[in-house]
Amino acid sequence: MKNESLKGKIAFVVGVGDDQGYGWAIAHTLASEGARIIFGTWTPIMKIFQMSWDGGKFDESRRLPDGSLMQVEKVYSIDAMYDTPDSVPEDVKNNKRYLGSTNYTISEVASKIEADYGKIDILVHSLANGPEVKKPLLETSRDGYLKAISSSSYSFVSLVKYFGPLINKGGSILNLTYLASNRVVPGYGGGMSSAKAALESDTKTLAFEAGRAWQIRVNSISAGPLASRAAKAIGFIEKMINYSHVNAPLQKNIEADEIGNAAAFLLSPKASAITGVVLFVDNGLHAMATSTDSPTLS
Ligand SMILES: NC(=O)c1ccc[n+]([C@@H]2O[C@H](COP(=O)([O-])OP(=O)(O)OC[C@H]3O[C@@H](n4cnc5c(N)ncnc54)[C@H](O)[C@@H]3O)[C@@H](O)[C@H]2O)c1
Repeated sequence: MKNESLKGKIAFVVGVGDDQGYGWAIAHTLASEGARIIFGTWTPIMKIFQMSWDGGKFDESRRLPDGSLMQVEKVYSIDAMYDTPDSVPEDVKNNKRYLGSTNYTISEVASKIEADYGKIDILVHSLANGPEVKKPLLETSRDGYLKAISSSSYSFVSLVKYFGPLINKGGSILNLTYLASNRVVPGYGGGMSSAKAALESDTKTLAFEAGRAWQIRVNSISAGPLASRAAKAIGFIEKMINYSHVNAPLQKNIEADEIGNAAAFLLSPKASAITGVVLFVDNGLHAMATSTDSPTLS
């Protein structure tokens, strides 16, 4: 029997730029459970995403279990670094990747979605960016560190602030975090580990504030390694996938759909009493204190 537990729910998934990442996988699972999907795509890559979509590049990945193709009702251009039009610096406005784009700040996208849909039910924050991610923390500049926090953590605070009032009572919000928030993962630099720590802390505080203000839930998934476009840019994702495969309790690769399934649960009424949680979906790697492939153990 078809699972339609999210039938008619409207889900805004922010941070989809192709079919390789967690945002896409979550949207795909939500769609297969009956949700109506709208995307938020980073302004500088909006055109290439649209061209790829229109050219059928994602058609195979759009296929749902019932054979139909995932429909995306609208794709909103968004830059989650900016809250209001006056916060966009001149050099960004005039950058050729932004020229011709309008209304891409978080508050403006919220207004557009309110005009188009009234209320929504689900918000997913699946985005991160740290311009100095390849640098160790000791070599990270103040500017690089603050940019990592701004685009990877404050973006979540701002999305909850502007979208909270648009989310139906009982609705649900989710972000994606990573184990490097509170365990050392050498190579995950540029302040990105700090950004994920802030994101997890904010998940709890926002669960309280958004729960009290709008009776909605706020949770986080700490995902295992996936060779998404963003992860490949860090430069050692294949090693992290291999490390997890060798050392995690479950010796298998993480499939993006496994994060999609956990997300669909947290975002559904079945999780109606769950808020403020960071749920590990990582084959159990977080539970390990020793590397089973360490030469010291042999
Ligand atoms: N891939 C992994 O191994 C892994 C592990 C744990 C957590 N995560 C988290 O999952 C989330 C999704 O990342 P992914 O790995 O699936 O890669 P991805 O490349 O599919 O997604 C990242 C998205 O963020 C968008 N983005 C960057 N800056 C933005 C901005 N200012 N405004 C709007 N969008 C912006 C990018 O365009 C991209 O589409 C991130 O929060 C990431 O940290 C990933």
